[in-house]
Amino acid sequence: MELVERRERAMGPSYHLFYDKPAHLVRGEGIWLWDADGRKYLDCYNNVASVGHCHPDVVAALAVQTATLNTHTRYLHENVIELSEKIASKLPGDLSVCLFVCTGTEANDLATRIARTVTGGDGMMVSEYSYHGNSTLVHTLSTADSDDRPDWLSLFEAPCRYRPAFKGDDLLEGYVDSVRDAIGDLKRKSHAPAAIMIDSIFDCPGTIEAPKGYFKQVYKSVRDAGGLVIADEVQAGYCRTGNHWWGFEHDGVVPDIVTLGKPMGAGHPLAAVVTTPDIAARFAAEFEYFNTFGGNPVSAAVGKAVIDVIDGESLLENVTRVGAYTKAGLQELQNQYDIIGDVRGRGLFLSVELVKDRAVKTPDPETARQMANLMKDEGVLLSTHGRYKNILKIRPPMVFSKENADQLLATLDACFRKL
Ligand SMILES: Cc1ncc(COP(=O)(O)O)c(C=O)c1O
Repeated sequence: MELVERRERAMGPSYHLFYDKPAHLVRGEGIWLWDADGRKYLDCYNNVASVGHCHPDVVAALAVQTATLNTHTRYLHENVIELSEKIASKLPGDLSVCLFVCTGTEANDLATRIARTVTGGDGMMVSEYSYHGNSTLVHTLSTADSDDRPDWLSLFEAPCRYRPAFKGDDLLEGYVDSVRDAIGDLKRKSHAPAAIMIDSIFDCPGTIEAPKGYFKQVYKSVRDAGGLVIADEVQAGYCRTGNHWWGFEHDGVVPDIVTLGKPMGAGHPLAAVVTTPDIAARFAAEFEYFNTFGGNPVSAAVGKAVIDVIDGESLLENVTRVGAYTKAGLQELQNQYDIIGDVRGRGLFLSVELVKDRAVKTPDPETARQMANLMKDEGVLLSTHGRYKNILKIRPPMVFSKENADQLLATLDACFRKL
């Protein structure tokens, strides 16, 4: 408790901690975390430790480079070039130019500036209850947190099937129309669309798998209106959703700009904006770009090591296989417990939505919170999220195995039984 009080004095009340009894973590290895009392936890939550906590290859790459040289991108260095080339090799189409930053927020901020520069418009579109980051600009684009609705911003509904925003059978058409309405709204307010910023797994609204064809139609509508597509892959990218490296690939689309962050540095602050040579050249015609820490030799060494581990340990295949196995296990639990209204998500990005009543789908945030605490007491870390805070969020490091999934499922079963 003393640490909690010291922390609040030192850091102020803006910061929040998970769990009624906060976890004091002191060590991590692979899928495991240990607290200060030596208790071991199965980590089912931390996507930033993408290749597992303290992966030895990532630690070694960081240690060697930090003992050799760390400067910035105004000097020649192989690491940042090689990292750019590796990222480009994973992306479809013409997405081959990387601009480095340190956080997802910065990536989305820069992506917005690029889109506005290149299109000449300033209109932006994001989903209801979105989260894209915390700078002044990107906070406004994060409609879950901000009530600021300037004229240059229009909102559309995330394509949720469990809680449809529209009546009628054709949800796909309804949700695409919602984007078309946002475009119309911007034009009515005399703001030409610069871009839509879209998270392909819609994490903040509660992990939503868009219906097939949704992104194809959305991308086309935005481009027909003169705007660009910014795919915020800060969460959905880097193999997280299985089958593909990127979330948008589930619909076979290619964005104009992609933003990356969280998993890229496996805990090291590394993020990027990736775009086409044409867009990069048009931005460069207006602005020079420099970022003191973004793309430095140490960060780039870490970024390269992360991609090498993903490839070397076949983590994309692991996410696809173990993700499907875990989701099937969660669906079995749904058959047993009425409190589980919906199970959704892709790969190792899964959500379990808890409701008081399946028929009317009344959200049950109190039980979700209780479950997160119970699971922690049983040695499994997960969290709650969503518009109603009634969703258990499962998003482990990508080294998550079938045995780990069995432990998660058995512990969930035991905790649901205790309710
Ligand atoms: C989809 C998405 N985009 C952007 C961000 C912002 O990233 P950062 O916290 O690194 O600034 C987040 C963070 O949670 C996110 O979930």
